Amino acid sequence: MIPNQWYPILRTEDIKRDAPTGVRRMGEELVLWRDLRGKLVCQSARCPHKGANLSEGRLVGNSVACPYHGFRFGTDGACRLVPALGSEGRIPASLRVDTYEVREKYDLVWLWWGDKRTQLPEIELPHELAEHPRPYETITFSRPVHYTRYIESLLEFYHVTFVHRDHWANIIDYTFMYGSWKKLWTDGRERYIAANKIVNHRVDVEGTIIRNSFDQCEEGNPSNTWHFNLIYQAPCMTHVRQGLLEVTTWLVPIDEHHTQAIMRLYEYPLLKWMVPVKPLRPLVLRLSLMMEQYVQDQQDNDIMARQEPKVSERG
Ligand code: FES
Ligand SMILES: [Fe+2]
Repeated sequence: MIPNQWYPILRTEDIKRDAPTGVRRMGEELVLWRDLRGKLVCQSARCPHKGANLSEGRLVGNSVACPYHGFRFGTDGACRLVPALGSEGRIPASLRVDTYEVREKYDLVWLWWGDKRTQLPEIELPHELAEHPRPYETITFSRPVHYTRYIESLLEFYHVTFVHRDHWANIIDYTFMYGSWKKLWTDGRERYIAANKIVNHRVDVEGTIIRNSFDQCEEGNPSNTWHFNLIYQAPCMTHVRQGLLEVTTWLVPIDEHHTQAIMRLYEYPLLKWMVPVKPLRPLVLRLSLMMEQYVQDQQDNDIMARQEPKVSERG
């Protein structure tokens, strides 16, 4: 895991209102909760007493209370109360939990994974995303793969015409990405499968951002060419734009063997025409994301699960 970086660990909407929220990220059990002013706190979830998980406890005033013996920990991580000692009990200063820097931006909760610093860098997305005008929906799910393999799979499209060719749900890809208007629904699949050569590959690096574009084409048939724009931002963001499709995915380490995907799909212009009732559009985006999760992404993961070595050599 690359240190000294901001990692998005959850959507803001995943934080429970009146109870602690538990997650496993970067190989650590973490607990997140809001103090009385609404500021988000992130701490190690392992109680220093006997190791119970604080995310199963309760919020009491400006503290989180352990579910096992009720020790309370404040926003700075120090233990404030040991109920068995009473309110006057002397609490050792060493009885505390680690506290991590977290911020909320772009509807996500970001964890600073690195050295303690007085001044932390800003959380910035590439300008194409930060200034993106369209509404979006975001889903999350976990997979039993190393995050480097996952990032790798979303940054190359050479696998697409092989891995994603046969499932019925790919008819949507065939139609919208590779079908021709003249023969909509009918010739998409053949064009899709035939377009497996990559040309005009171009890479630009700007700080921690890599922009990458290429054409996926059918050899000897210039009319069957599809332009892709991909962005990678360290440590774990990928963004794909092709025709109508535009999706950002953050692949966040849960631990050495599992990855959390945070997948965001933007409203595509055609959706206004396809779904005139505005409140229904988020639902359609969510359904599209779920199809991605259960079909295409699952197909990728079936391959990744058997890959050796488990960690990408570039990771
Ligand atoms: S394990 Fe947390 S208070 Fe005992
Ligand atoms: Fe894929």
